[in-house]
Amino acid sequence: MTEAQPFMTMKNIEKSFNGVPVLKKVTLQVEQGEIHALLGENGAGKSTLMNILGGVHQPDGGVIQIHGKEVKNLNPRVSQEHGISFIHQELNVVSDLKVYENMFLGSELQNKFGFLKVEEMCAQTSEILAKLGVHINPKEYVRNLDTSYKQLIEISKSLLHKSKLIIMDEPTSSLAEHEVKRLFELMRNLKKTGVSIIYISHKLKEIKEICDRYTVLRDGELVGTGYIKHENLDSITKLMVGKSISEERLTKEHSLGPIMLEVNDLTSHGQFKHIDFTVRKGEVVGFTGLAGDGRTELFESLFGYRKKYTGQIKINDQLVKIDHPQNAVKAGLGFVPKDRKENAIIKDLSVIHNMSLSSMGHFEKAGFIQDKSEQEKFHYYKGKLNIKVHNPRVTIDKLSGGNQQKVIIAKWLEVNTDIIIFDNPTQGIDVGAKQEIYQHIISLAEQGKAIIILSSEAPEVLKLCDTIYVMYQGEITARFKGEEATEDEIMSYATGSKREAEKIG
Ligand SMILES: Nc1ncnc2c1ncn2[C@@H]1O[C@H](COP(=O)(O)OP(=O)(O)OP(=O)(O)O)[C@@H](O)[C@H]1O
Ligand SMILES: [Mg+2]
Repeated sequence: MTEAQPFMTMKNIEKSFNGVPVLKKVTLQVEQGEIHALLGENGAGKSTLMNILGGVHQPDGGVIQIHGKEVKNLNPRVSQEHGISFIHQELNVVSDLKVYENMFLGSELQNKFGFLKVEEMCAQTSEILAKLGVHINPKEYVRNLDTSYKQLIEISKSLLHKSKLIIMDEPTSSLAEHEVKRLFELMRNLKKTGVSIIYISHKLKEIKEICDRYTVLRDGELVGTGYIKHENLDSITKLMVGKSISEERLTKEHSLGPIMLEVNDLTSHGQFKHIDFTVRKGEVVGFTGLAGDGRTELFESLFGYRKKYTGQIKINDQLVKIDHPQNAVKAGLGFVPKDRKENAIIKDLSVIHNMSLSSMGHFEKAGFIQDKSEQEKFHYYKGKLNIKVHNPRVTIDKLSGGNQQKVIIAKWLEVNTDIIIFDNPTQGIDVGAKQEIYQHIISLAEQGKAIIILSSEAPEVLKLCDTIYVMYQGEITARFKGEEATEDEIMSYATGSKREAEKIG
């Protein structure tokens, strides 16, 4: 073994599923103490490659070396013995177990009589979670926690073992900004101690910020590798999708129709207060801010998921009282919820049925779903969103994580209410398909719908929206015309460092 030997090498890895090749002689090298970005479109093969390194899948060909020594017949346990930890894209936490039970699942601490050392496990759990800034009771049942906590538990689990290489497969998809910041701090500290990290994310800004080198896959092939600092977002995008994606605004100046939704002085104690805004026919309105800004709570109330609020809601100039989602739908509101990965995917149902069936209860009963045939709809969105699936009859869990997202968002793009609220519409979706989803949303507006986008990503609202509202701790702190806002300005209002009454029209 020489000094120049990389810590981990995967050489010419091949893998097929049911005769379809998904990895074609892929090589990946990770140095000790580096953060290595693994990039590519949805379905490019990132998770599959990591599943091979984590011992979940066996490769059909190729070699894996650690410190120059070949390792064979990996399974999850052996992989862990080699110092490899895996934070999975699909959250693996068990809702019916407590936090500490999840942390120590399969590696429970026992005393010499075989009794579980519960307090010791709780103490270690708290200690690790605290490093991520999380303070929850280790004896709490996971089912009572928000998705972001589940993701943090998943991350913490990997820190329990003294790992040399940590695979992070989209660790931040459900995290708020301050949680991402903490995670990055932790990653930098791990790096200092010589730990290597493989980092997968569709958020290219994160990649720029935290990663040292990158490897890009396209359709199962290696298309590039190098130093992040030598690249810009555009060159990385080009490698991933084979073309540039314009950073320009997609919404052009256009005339708006009459006010369809008007909200006056909406207040819910401890959640949001004095909320005033309007949405016009044909308008795309964005709401952005940081964690705890109250945006999701506001719109869940507006949609009747939460009952306690005061203030007025007018739809088409009619005062409405919404205390149940069914009333919201009757009044012409549609709501596309976030965290679809957890809440909306039915794993043992086929792709095509997941796209057309159920879990949209309120809308179906009220007849607000467009009436295309299953096949028609499937083929339309498969092409439009570049959904990688060979056979629509396979169960949806055979698709890559992002392609599952695309199937579910496609279903929701068919909601045919006059006013549609999208919460986090492009979670987990690659840069190319994001653009298609934006185009689709804009065309809904052009057809005369009123659109509301909730997003924690400022670039998303900047690209799409005619009007942007920024929220901070439950209040609207700024209102911008889409073409006049900048990311920096949005951030200064979102962090509360600036607040201007006169900005709010
Ligand atoms: N268990 C499986 N059975 C059949 N096909 C599979 C299986 N797992 C993955 N695939 C296929 O392998 C290809 C690569 O999937 P993979 O999950 O590696 O993509 P990815 O790069 O991680 O994408 P994403 O960004 O969406 O997570 C996809 O076309 C997927 O459908
Ligand atoms: Mg994946």
